[in-house]
Amino acid sequence: MKSIAIGVIGAGLIGRKHLAKLAGRADYDLVGIADVNADRVAADHPGIPVFADCQKLLDEARPEAVIIASPNQLHAEQGIACARRGVHILIEKPVTDTVETAASLTAEVRKAGIQSLVGHHRRHHQQVRTLKAALGEKRIGDVVGVSAIWATHKPAAYFETAPWRAQAGGGPILINLIHEIDFLRFTIGEIVAVQAAASNRQRGFAVEDTAAALIEFDSGALGTFFISDSAVSPWTSEQGLGEAPEFPFSGESNYRFLGRSGSIEFPALVQWTQAGGAQDWNKPIEARRIHAASIDPYVAQLDHFRDIIRGQAQSLQPVEDGARSLIATLAVAEAAASGQRVDLRHRYDALAPTGEAF
Ligand SMILES: NC(=O)c1ccc[n+]([C@@H]2O[C@H](COP(=O)([O-])OP(=O)(O)OC[C@H]3O[C@@H](n4cnc5c(N)ncnc54)[C@H](O)[C@@H]3O)[C@@H](O)[C@H]2O)c1
Repeated sequence: MKSIAIGVIGAGLIGRKHLAKLAGRADYDLVGIADVNADRVAADHPGIPVFADCQKLLDEARPEAVIIASPNQLHAEQGIACARRGVHILIEKPVTDTVETAASLTAEVRKAGIQSLVGHHRRHHQQVRTLKAALGEKRIGDVVGVSAIWATHKPAAYFETAPWRAQAGGGPILINLIHEIDFLRFTIGEIVAVQAAASNRQRGFAVEDTAAALIEFDSGALGTFFISDSAVSPWTSEQGLGEAPEFPFSGESNYRFLGRSGSIEFPALVQWTQAGGAQDWNKPIEARRIHAASIDPYVAQLDHFRDIIRGQAQSLQPVEDGARSLIATLAVAEAAASGQRVDLRHRYDALAPTGEAF
């Protein structure tokens, strides 16, 4: 089958990772890269056309598909430029930087009829797929709730090299919690309301270093989430999954999914149930491991992008779904600032075409 002519916009931290995963694949043909730092990028990629301007990449290299890995504020504009040329997009998370720009991008993608996939790569882990299937098959009955922690201590250099991370928008809610919110939406279902509190007491930055959220799902399930970038612990998804070499593997579970007839620790995928499906606190409870292979989620994400471009699969996350994860995450920050419960149902309506309410 013909390879897919692909371009990459933004060759920074994650753009370089995508480029490394594309190397040597027969199903993709890298036809160009766009980055404002064109000279640096060209030196790293001899033989590949590099453009300082993404419009030039689109018009001169004429890719069929593009990976957008530029700063958040550019996602909407660059995604719309691709949609208007009929170019399919794999767009990094968050899908855009605001709800308004996410709605504009969603409208343009729908109008153009291109394929879109948001880079919430965690959806492509085999452990995540296995958990989703186990919950869907009701192995622990209806989900009653979830208890989650994401806590690690980011080093001082993380903030010194990028001072924006100490300002509004640079804290763990918008940078890290968005992945976890997306994971919870993917595995449990839609989030309909949030409450939250946040603190900056540990680092004293303008932005939060710690937050706690109460999450309501459409199914009636409830969740609690504690997140901090100022506490040493083995309980982050990155450490538990062994997702990337920069986060040493802990194998520890940072999630507990609680159901009517059992519970599951994740990512270790330890299932707790009682014999014969009993639901009785006086009966013993036993643990068993559910097996799931460990695969590279970024490679699996590229496999899936290829399949949706070729019409062999439906996108696991089109832009409007990524916009919902953005809406729910921004709502956590808003709830923490206002102290009010934020209802999300009407906010999702902004993304739906007329008559297609949440
Ligand atoms: N899925 C993940 O695991 C993951 C991890 C990190 C970052 N991200 C997301 O990826 C995006 C990029 O993050 P990063 O950490 O790689 O940032 P980065 O700053 O390391 O890289 C951004 C790159 O975009 C380039 N750029 C800036 N303006 C541009 C323009 N107008 N046109 C083309 N290129 C331009 C920069 O020169 C830089 O090379 C963000 O949206 C971020 O949230 C996702």
